[in-house]
Amino acid sequence: MRALLGRAVAASSVVVLVVACGGADEPGASPRPRPPTRPSPEQGAAADRLLTGPDWYRHAVFYEVNVRSFQDSDGDGIGDLPGLVSRLDYLKDLGVDALWLMPINPSPFKDSGYDVADYGDVDKVYGGKPAFDVLVREAHARKMRVMVDLVLNHTSDQHPWFQESRKDKTNPKADYYVWSDTDGRSDVACGTYSAQFGTSAWAKDDQRGQYYYHRFYPGQPDLNYKNPAVVSAVLDAAKGWLDSGADGFRCDVIGLLVETADPEQCSMAPETQAIIRKLRALLDTYPDRAMVAEPLLGDARAYYGSGRDMFHMAFDFSYGYFWGVAFSARSRKLVDVSMAQSAAFPEGAQNALVIGSHDVQRAFTVASGHEWRQRRAAEIQLLRRGTPFVYYGEEVGLRPGAGVVVDSRDSARTPMTWARGPGHGFTKGTPWLAFGPMADETSVEAEDRDPESMLTFYRSLLAFRRGRAVWSTGAERVVGLDTGSVVAFLREDGAERYLVAVSLSEEEVDAALVERPAGVAEVVWGDGALGADGRLKLPARGSAVFRLR
Ligand code: NOJ
Repeated sequence: MRALLGRAVAASSVVVLVVACGGADEPGASPRPRPPTRPSPEQGAAADRLLTGPDWYRHAVFYEVNVRSFQDSDGDGIGDLPGLVSRLDYLKDLGVDALWLMPINPSPFKDSGYDVADYGDVDKVYGGKPAFDVLVREAHARKMRVMVDLVLNHTSDQHPWFQESRKDKTNPKADYYVWSDTDGRSDVACGTYSAQFGTSAWAKDDQRGQYYYHRFYPGQPDLNYKNPAVVSAVLDAAKGWLDSGADGFRCDVIGLLVETADPEQCSMAPETQAIIRKLRALLDTYPDRAMVAEPLLGDARAYYGSGRDMFHMAFDFSYGYFWGVAFSARSRKLVDVSMAQSAAFPEGAQNALVIGSHDVQRAFTVASGHEWRQRRAAEIQLLRRGTPFVYYGEEVGLRPGAGVVVDSRDSARTPMTWARGPGHGFTKGTPWLAFGPMADETSVEAEDRDPESMLTFYRSLLAFRRGRAVWSTGAERVVGLDTGSVVAFLREDGAERYLVAVSLSEEEVDAALVERPAGVAEVVWGDGALGADGRLKLPARGSAVFRLR
């Protein structure tokens, strides 16, 4: 192995301390320059082409924004839409093409906005509807798209529909929710989503004298999708957002819409699929819109339908949320399984790839507090076939917080840290939720010009893949190895071929590929060597992308 493996490679700087990787085992190759943090003009032009037209979402990099925690503009300690607008240039520069906004509707905030009290409006605390219009205009002016969260399974108990429905058994909205005389119903076989939301999915409403079904918190009664009036009311709400310029939807737990008697069908009844097809048909009457499903854990196949009539994308949680379970051979298996599942998706389906979100622990936490592990996970996320969704703060390695306003998931919802010092550039007031630790060190200000920082790493990796369709839509295939501590896969688009090799090990790796893909290997990202004999060498905690020609 060449000098590179003998040289000390700092845990947090594998990517930038790359040396001598011109080709497979060429002695004396000169040190590789640091990867650029910005794409070339040619890449930029290619990206613009890929991002134009109905398939834009396949080539976009999405960014999940917790608006409440992103940027406060008026000093009330709560992030808002004008604040987000002021950070669009930062996001554009990072390489973000589209935003997914966590719910911004009026809400009593019993579940971070996933308890919607008005589908058609934007909470005043975020700037109201006019602020959304400005956001869409400003984002579109920068060729960025805006996707909103559509929470259709349930509303808040403060929603006027529920307020009316609970009055008695005969009012016009009496059948908008799932009511029962007892705390159960034989045609509703599904229970609560998780321990987080309580042990019973039925709550007594004293006003109506009946129980209502709530899959999540008691303040989130489930809508009754067996009632056609509910279906048309929510489709109207969706239409309102499309008319307002939203580029599509992230659909919250949409597989749960229709309750069934068959527990096997809890997560996606045929009637639910029919409603999703209606939503898709509505979307398709607008140009260049897309929607992504939040599937229940497991295989997302049921969300794609024919590949053209249900979701454009569905989150792949099989790897995304659990990649760090052991960060070992187990992680590699997760990638294998996920790739095998994706291979069975219908033509047209596009995986949405994540390593974190507002529902799970921070990527840094899942990486058991090791930046290098988060970087390796991000490489798998960003170099697999699919559309990546970066969760805000991942790019600076935001640490988990300890404060709680809603529930324990708040540890991954702390305010973004833009600068050193009080308020961290997020607010001039008191933040609604306490900052996580190391807020100075993980601020954009601190990381901006540091060649070793997480932010520089993310910028470089996003620049590396920009405008190159092979990463978003090229074929992917797992490559076998005689070790469990490396994830290796092939990416291919016509004549363009790459082998991605990501180490999960703290030791140097010297392994054998089960099958050496043909071609001379040139390292184009990271550090390593791939011999003609199929031997793969990676530095401790390292990774490499080999271009094969
Ligand atoms: C999934 C959302 O991501 C989560 O945050 C929320 O609690 C539940 N759905 C209920 O809406």
